[in-house]
Formats: sequence, structure tokens, C-alpha cells
Amino acid sequence: MTSEPTPVAVRVRAPGKVNLVLAVGELQEDGYHELATAFQALSLTEEITATRADGISLSVSGTVDYAGVPLDESNLAYKAALLLQERTGVTEGVHLSIHKGVPVAGGMGGGSADAAAALVACDALWGTNLSPAELHALAAELGADVPFSLHGGTAMGTGRGDELSPMLSQGRFDWVLVTNDEGLSTPRVYGELDAIRERLRADLPVVPVQPHLDADLFHALRAGDPVRLADALHNDLQQAALMLRPELAAVIELGLHEGALAGIVSGSGPTIALLCANPESALDVQVAMIAAGYDSFHAHGPVPGARIISAV
Ligand code: C5P
Repeated sequence: MTSEPTPVAVRVRAPGKVNLVLAVGELQEDGYHELATAFQALSLTEEITATRADGISLSVSGTVDYAGVPLDESNLAYKAALLLQERTGVTEGVHLSIHKGVPVAGGMGGGSADAAAALVACDALWGTNLSPAELHALAAELGADVPFSLHGGTAMGTGRGDELSPMLSQGRFDWVLVTNDEGLSTPRVYGELDAIRERLRADLPVVPVQPHLDADLFHALRAGDPVRLADALHNDLQQAALMLRPELAAVIELGLHEGALAGIVSGSGPTIALLCANPESALDVQVAMIAAGYDSFHAHGPVPGARIISAV
């Protein structure tokens, strides 16, 4: 019996995401919040090329500002390679060349996409051939958003956002993503939400432990209707992100003024995601944003999850 020869270089593409809805439950004892979220994978993608090497090393390039990306063992792609090594007993190393297309530290899952891409690339490079379920389990250990980048498309996430079920979605949705030079720390945004809820506890409805997604979101996606989707967009972290960065409200205002159907904070921010009616409208909005001095990107979704684009 002959075994398949393993490749010497594997290139994998993995998508960033926008949270169409992010409903955050009450803080749990483990410091996390139960979520009900709907992810849409976007055409802003990360590409990782994995090649044989001694040890694990990283390099980075990209179409977005990647100055803040660490190249040491704190990088999620590094952690992904190390985790796969540890769990499979592989002794080979890898060099991961990361080409970033997802804004860094923007709430769009770029680091998670790197982890997903690194898992898929190293699995092919090293010939470890894990099943999709095994890859999913490793992805969930690396971070709450990593399984979705493996999965792609449109999916509901519960638990910490890592328990995924596919959602039916038709057609394409166009977005303008407005980035921000200064990142926002995810734990800080969750902490601010807890503080807001604590202050207003007497006046607010009880926050559920496990929130859910409303039916109007499912209907909008099934119909492929951006106007209905615009109505269904919601992010419980938005108020907290805007408290920490009040200037983001002006970005949403400008987007709406220029014809976007809706604008939300993406994930924990600070990227603002503007949903547009079609590609032409998205181009108009993007031009207006650039004219106003904002960095912005046009993307569409849903797109597929992490996949090998070449193996030689
Ligand atoms: O999973 P990730 O590393 O992105 O989470 C970063 C931080 O965000 C956590 O340490 C926690 O403070 C907060 N978080 C949370 N509930 C979630 C996801 C993240 O409180 N479901």
C-alpha cells in the first residue's frame, strides 16, 4: 500500500466575518457570556501559505495595515500550528506566510481566520488528515470565532459562538466596512456592557442566560432581501462600543446619509459594517467614506469557509 505524498507548500484562504446579530446573555461564572449570533462570511479573506521548516515561524504581508500583528507564539496562527503538532504528535515544523486582507483588530475575525487557515494548511502539509469534526474541536479551543471561519457561509452560533448550525441564505449581500486605526479590546467591550447592564438593571428587562435569534433574521436571509436584513441587524455590544468610542456613531450616521440601508458595529468593534442595497450603492458609500477620510473596504457575503487553493 502506498500513502499519498504530502505537499511541500499549501495555500489556504479563510474568510473574515460580520455578525449580523450578536445577542449577548448574562455574564457567566467562567467570565464568558452565552451568545446567540449569526455570522456571515465575507469576501475579505486571509491567505496562509504553509511550507516545510524547522520549528514554527511566521511572516506577514497584506492589503490592510498589519503593523500590530505579532509574529511570535502569541499569534493565533502559531497557536493553531502548535496545537495540531501537540495533538497529532507531528515532529515536522512549518513556516506560515500570512497575507492579510481582513482589517486587524477590527471585530471582523481576521485573527480567527488565520487560525482556521493555519489548521487546514498544516493538516494538509503534515498529512495528518483530521476529520472536519476534529478540526472543528481544535478550532473551538483556539477561540470562539475560529470554527466559523472553518465553516464559512452563514451560520448561527450559540454557546460562546462556537456551537454552529448552518442558516439558509440566498443571493448576495454587499457591505462597506469602515475601519479604525485604533483597535478596541474585546474584553473591555464586554466589560462595558456588563457595567451598563449593572447600572440600568432596575429599568431593563431581565437579560437571559442564553439569548436567541429572532425569526425576522431567518426570513430576511432566506428571502435574500437586504432591506429586510437591514431591519434585522442588531448588536448588543454596540452601545458599549459606542460608549468607549463615541466618534463611531458619526461613521454610522454618514453611511446612512450616503445611502446605506443600515450600519452596525461589527462584533466588538471598532469596525463599522454598512449594509448596502447592491454593489453600485456600496461603491457610492465607499467613495463617500474615503472622501470623508475613512479607510473602507467593499465586501460581499456569504462566501465559503477555509479551503485549500493550491497544494504543490
Ligand atoms: O474568545 P475570545 O478570545 O475572542 O474572547 C476574548 C474575551 O472576550 C474573553 O476573555 C471574554 O472577556 C470576552 N468574551 C465573553 N463572552 C464571549 C466571548 C468573549 O465575555 N462569548
